[in-house]
Amino acid sequence: MARSANPTSRQCQPYLEPVPPILPYPLVFSGGFGQSGRLPFTPLAIRCLITAGPTREFFDPVRFVSNPSTGKMGFAIAAAAKAAGWTVDLVSGPVALAEPAGVMLYPVVTADEMLRQTDALFGPCDVLIMTAAVSDWRPKVMHPQKLKKDGAGLTVEFEPVPDILATLAQRRRPDQLLVGFAAETENIEANALAKLDRKGIDLVAANSVAGPDGAFGNELNRLILLGRDGFRQALGPATKTVVAQQLISALATRLAAAAR
Ligand code: CTP
Repeated sequence: MARSANPTSRQCQPYLEPVPPILPYPLVFSGGFGQSGRLPFTPLAIRCLITAGPTREFFDPVRFVSNPSTGKMGFAIAAAAKAAGWTVDLVSGPVALAEPAGVMLYPVVTADEMLRQTDALFGPCDVLIMTAAVSDWRPKVMHPQKLKKDGAGLTVEFEPVPDILATLAQRRRPDQLLVGFAAETENIEANALAKLDRKGIDLVAANSVAGPDGAFGNELNRLILLGRDGFRQALGPATKTVVAQQLISALATRLAAAAR
């Protein structure tokens, strides 16, 4: 049977070969713990669901509303989670990135599609990390044909899309860890904290998306990870790869503590 260049990575296909062992030890993170760089506990078998990238909402076949998210942070988190031995499902809006090796990628376009896909994968997951920059509104009317310019302006009426994270949180199990990403341009920490309660999640990564240093499209990032229980940890500033490893380390520590 012909093998793809990356045999452990497929898009939306069931495993065709035996699933590889979930825990390749020892775990080593460049941004990790102590002098050894190894996690100071035995990692658990974790199933992780990650969303990434933007969503698009079309008002005619060739025009849409979206945002500048590139998906880099979410893909870096997926790679870090996989490297930590976790089983990773990655639901992504349209991005120009190759899927990380060994990760199941589920491409979607609209917020509705992202909701349906994450909903289908949510039940068995232990950790949900929503990095996706969901386009918050969609046009009320989707014109079936390309709108023609007639020299006049265009008014498009929008309606809100469903809040994916809040919807899933309503049917969460208490043992699931739900992590949101707050994209903020001002009052970053306060606005992010408000989303913990509003969405019914455990942790939120406060992320500045303001100006040229903001997270969208940048190679570097910094996050402040905030918990409902008062937890606070700064991650970065560093490359998105390193920040992703730091985030997975922080989550792994929390999961190990909860399992004790
Ligand atoms: N999110 C979601 N569904 C939406 C909007 C956002 O699941 N329709 C998720 C994002 O993936 C992120 C978190 O909610 O994990 C916070 O998203 P953010 O864009 O920061 O906040 P909003 O909820 O959109 O609120 P606001 O735009 O008022 O800041």
